[in-house]
Formats: sequence, structure tokens, C-alpha cells
Amino acid sequence: MSSRRDFFQNIYHQRAEQFDRLVAREDRHGNLFAALHDIRPLGGLRIVEFGAGTGRITRLLSVLVEQVFAFDIEAPMLRQADSAMRATGTTNWRLAQGDNGRMPVVSRCADLVIEGWSFAHVVGWHPQDWPARTDKMLAEMERILKPGGVAILIETMGTGSRQPLAPSGKLAELYRYWEREHGFSYRWIRTDFQFASPKEADELMRFFFGDDVADECLDGDTVIVPECTGIWWKQFDG
Ligand SMILES: C[S@@+](CC[C@H](N)C(=O)[O-])C[C@H]1O[C@@H](n2cnc3c(N)ncnc32)[C@H](O)[C@@H]1O
Repeated sequence: MSSRRDFFQNIYHQRAEQFDRLVAREDRHGNLFAALHDIRPLGGLRIVEFGAGTGRITRLLSVLVEQVFAFDIEAPMLRQADSAMRATGTTNWRLAQGDNGRMPVVSRCADLVIEGWSFAHVVGWHPQDWPARTDKMLAEMERILKPGGVAILIETMGTGSRQPLAPSGKLAELYRYWEREHGFSYRWIRTDFQFASPKEADELMRFFFGDDVADECLDGDTVIVPECTGIWWKQFDG
């Protein structure tokens, strides 16, 4: 990867507040929490979260779990997460800077490790050596988990789609790699966006997904945009 920031890195560095407004509009039916709880009942768990961004998943988890330690590489995303988490009134969370490939966390401390919409950046940012980098991130997950712990990966299966389909060949390859080389199980859910107005839909969709996707999804009156989300999980016996 070159030292210049790419499109998404610029967003994570400079537009954390706008990113948080976008993700706050996703999952109008609350399907994600139910799916996670179904894979591994969340009550009482100690969780380490990779690539937590502005804390969308951290917020969801903190309601029920014992403790969630959430990490991200971008300080501006963590600052936004900090103010959002404080507003929840929960106190069972900590935020800190950490790289998905080398997490500043002791071994065998978590019942559950999780990432959402973070690991898949590797195929865009590191097209040459994404498998080795993926192996490293998954090895970090395994190291941090207690024996019998569960790892969960969450990524897009299509914006504007009612049925799941990996949005690019590279992402399809990554998802297959998780399943075939690393033994992850897969399911998918809908996490549709619901915006407050067509104007908000236009602003937030264009800012993050770009004009092509926004033009495809929006017709001037749209406030609901379908989204498919893949969830991969694996229990590590240790
Ligand atoms: C699309 S956002 C998702 C954020 C959050 N998980 C959510 O569900 O809204 C991707 C996040 O991954 C973070 N990220 C990307 N590469 C990372 C890495 N190597 N280590 C830690 N965080 C990383 C970015 O800084 C960004 O905050």
C-alpha cells in the first residue's frame, strides 16, 4: 500500500462523525444483535473487538456482555466511539488503538473475538499479500481467545441487494478463503438502512458508497436501502 491514504482511510481519518451517522442508520430491524446472540449467547462474555471504528458493534454488545475491549487503528474513529459510548451510560467497555494484525492484548483472555466490516479492507489495501495478512489477523484472534472461544467476522454481501452476493471477485475470494482454508461457517442476514429523509439518504450514501452505488440505490424518494450482511464464525478448541 502506498503511504497516501486511500478513499476509505480518508473517511476514517477525517469524517468519523459522518461515518457514525451512516452506520447508525443501518440494520433497521435489529437483525445483527439477534444473529450474534444466536451464534454465541452474549450474556457474561469477555469480548475483544477488532477494527471497532466508531463503536457501532461495541454499543450493541455492551448492553449484555461482561466486558468489551474495542480497538481500531484510527484515533479519530476512536474519539467518535468514545463520545458515542459515553452517551450509552454503560461502563463495561474500553477503547484503545490497535492494529488488527498485532493486537495489544494478552493471550487467552476473551470468550469471543469479533470484527465488523474491517478485515475485508485487506483485499483492497494489500492485493499482493492479503492471504498472509488474513492469516495473521485470524492468528491474533485465535491467540486472544480462551480455549473453546468463538471468533466472528462480519462483512458486506451487497449494498442495495435483497439477496447476498459478494460485491467483488476479490471479496468473494476472501470469503471463500475464510470458509475453505480456515473452516469458518457462514450465514447471512439483512441489515437494511433506514434514513430519516431522502436528503439524508443521498448525503450519507454518496459520501461512503460513492455516486455509482448511490445512483443505483436512490430514486429521489428513497429512505430504505436493502443491505445483505455475511456473518462467519468459528469455535477454536485451543
Ligand atoms: C467500515 S469501518 C467499520 C467500523 C466498525 N466495525 C463498524 O461496524 O462500524 C472499518 C474500520 O476498520 C478499521 N481498520 C482498518 N484496518 C485496520 C487495521 N489493520 N487495524 C485496526 N483497525 C483497522 C478502520 O480504521 C475503520 O475504523
